[in-house]
Amino acid sequence: MKKGQAWYLHSANFLVGVTGLIYAYFIYCGQPVDEYSNINSPYQPFLQQLHILFAPLLVFGCGMIWMNHAWLMYKSPIATRRRTGTILLFSAWPMILSGVIIQIVTEPSALQIWKWVHLGTSILWLMGYLVHLKQKRHS
Ligand code: HEM
Ligand code: HEM
Repeated sequence: MKKGQAWYLHSANFLVGVTGLIYAYFIYCGQPVDEYSNINSPYQPFLQQLHILFAPLLVFGCGMIWMNHAWLMYKSPIATRRRTGTILLFSAWPMILSGVIIQIVTEPSALQIWKWVHLGTSILWLMGYLVHLKQKRHS
């Protein structure tokens, strides 16, 4: 992987991950701003907009390194970073798909399930990514 590609991925992960985590904090840990409102912070809609705007950067980043890094490494016999790389390989799809499906599902219980899938796979992805990078120093 080229240095520029790695930095692009770090930045996209940062922007999408941080906006997603703050948005999650507002949704799951906040209190409604008033009794008529379904938002828990005046900043919540802004974080939602930023998250949706940044999301394509990460989707593009995955596409950019998919064949020449992720799939290539997965097929190779190299053992280094294999476990976290495989987690990334298999969490990327449900993370991206659930993020898109959340926008088109209207049935409330199905929507709730897809939101949990999105949150769960996104957190798995972020943790996998951090450990994947950290392993460099040890290998
Ligand atoms: C990198 C880690 C990510 C984290 C931590 C994260 C987190 C979240 C959270 C917490 C929500 C709100 C779910 C809810 O309402 O309960 C959300 C919604 C959403 N995410 Fe992500 N996400 C991540 C990556 C992505 C990616 C890669 C995409 C690309 C498709 C994406 C697209 C979306 C969309 C479109 C929504 C719906 C926003 C809405 O209408 O409320 N997210 N995300
Ligand atoms: C979507 C999946 C993946 C992503 C997003 C990803 C991302 C990354 C990133 C950002 C780096 C750091 C490059 C640098 O700092 O210079 C890296 C390095 C590395 N990854 Fe992955 N990776 C993925 C899949 C895999 C898989 C499946 C394996 C192994 C089976 C793997 C093995 C490695 C190794 C050995 C390195 C260090 C050598 C190099 O930079 O090419 N990765 N990966």
